[in-house]
Amino acid sequence: MKAILRKTNTTAGKAKISTLKIGMTYDVKSGYIARPDDPPDASAEFDRPETINMISESIQSLGFEAVKIGNSRDLLNKINNLDVDIVFNIAEGVTGRNRESEVPVILEMMGMPFIGSDGLSLALGLDKVMAKKVFIAENIPTPRFFTTDDAKANLYQLENLNFPLIVKPQYEGSSKGMSESSKVDNIEQLRKQISYIVKTYKQPAIIEEFISGSEYTVAIIGNKNPEVFHPVQIEIEGELDLGDKFYTFERVSRNAPLRYICNENMDKTLKDKLMVLALKTYRAVDCRDFGRVDFRVDKKGNPYVLEINPLPALSSADVFMCLADYLKIPYKEMIRRILDAAFQRYGMI
Ligand SMILES: Nc1ncnc2c1ncn2[C@@H]1O[C@H](COP(=O)(O)OP(=O)(O)OP(=O)(O)O)[C@@H](O)[C@H]1O
Ligand SMILES: [Mg+2]
Repeated sequence: MKAILRKTNTTAGKAKISTLKIGMTYDVKSGYIARPDDPPDASAEFDRPETINMISESIQSLGFEAVKIGNSRDLLNKINNLDVDIVFNIAEGVTGRNRESEVPVILEMMGMPFIGSDGLSLALGLDKVMAKKVFIAENIPTPRFFTTDDAKANLYQLENLNFPLIVKPQYEGSSKGMSESSKVDNIEQLRKQISYIVKTYKQPAIIEEFISGSEYTVAIIGNKNPEVFHPVQIEIEGELDLGDKFYTFERVSRNAPLRYICNENMDKTLKDKLMVLALKTYRAVDCRDFGRVDFRVDKKGNPYVLEINPLPALSSADVFMCLADYLKIPYKEMIRRILDAAFQRYGMI
């Protein structure tokens, strides 16, 4: 990709050529101001400064200028004097199920191009129940589920589900609210966990059939002809055949017992199935530029989409870095591909 040149008028009225300025919106863990009734994992979705720096250095080394803007509030404060051509948005937002849409909606309102999905796809991806309704409408396999904010209700929906079940907050990411108690084997455990989620996260719980087996995630970059990457398998505590093991917040925080594996010898049928389904899911929620689809695969090899992440983590410990290593390309090449996808979408290249 060539550096895109832009023309700006200097105050003297003379044309000046400079490289494209890419603004960056993000939430950093250190900038989070905890509230008194926050759960312990309240800032889990936010990025570390190192990740912001890694992306900004990649942008600069690709020949552009990176301009750090900050989070949605910083964006609002700076919006009238924003001197950028496009914004790379990885801001998670702070409250409610529309939080990831805050930045995209402001940018859309101002007519500012931005890299990544728009507000609707981001909110849909964050709300697991809304996303699953779309999956079902599109015949995308996803674990059977129901949602409730009442642990004392008669839970008639259980007629259609088989234990074990897994209980998650309806609109959180980064394994927030996930612990060993999230997998429940009976109605007493279920009621206790629903009550915990509703009280702690102040939102309904989504209750799904637990898929015992293995876990994969598939990353995608692009729009019209997206690049669907090799499925990345999740290893927990040295096991690929996870059985009943799953991501918990504790495991994610310790990081060590979790590994992303790219196995080029993986079963071809499963690989094809996962890649086709990932793309179908990406398109179902109108994802743009980049995204990631999470799967569990049962013991018979049937894949189930757990969720779509239209704003997947780009940190050095995450899937895009693992794929860069697998493909023997530098991390900045991944960033270049994401930028290219957005530039093409806007007809900038
Ligand atoms: N139905 C299920 N069956 C088995 N395990 C599940 C199921 N749903 C979730 N899990 C486990 O819980 C983890 C977190 O669930 P999920 O991906 O839905 O939420 P998340 O917190 O948004 O994830 P992320 O960390 O990718 O943002 C999964 O990676 C998986 O290990
Ligand atoms: Mg997930």
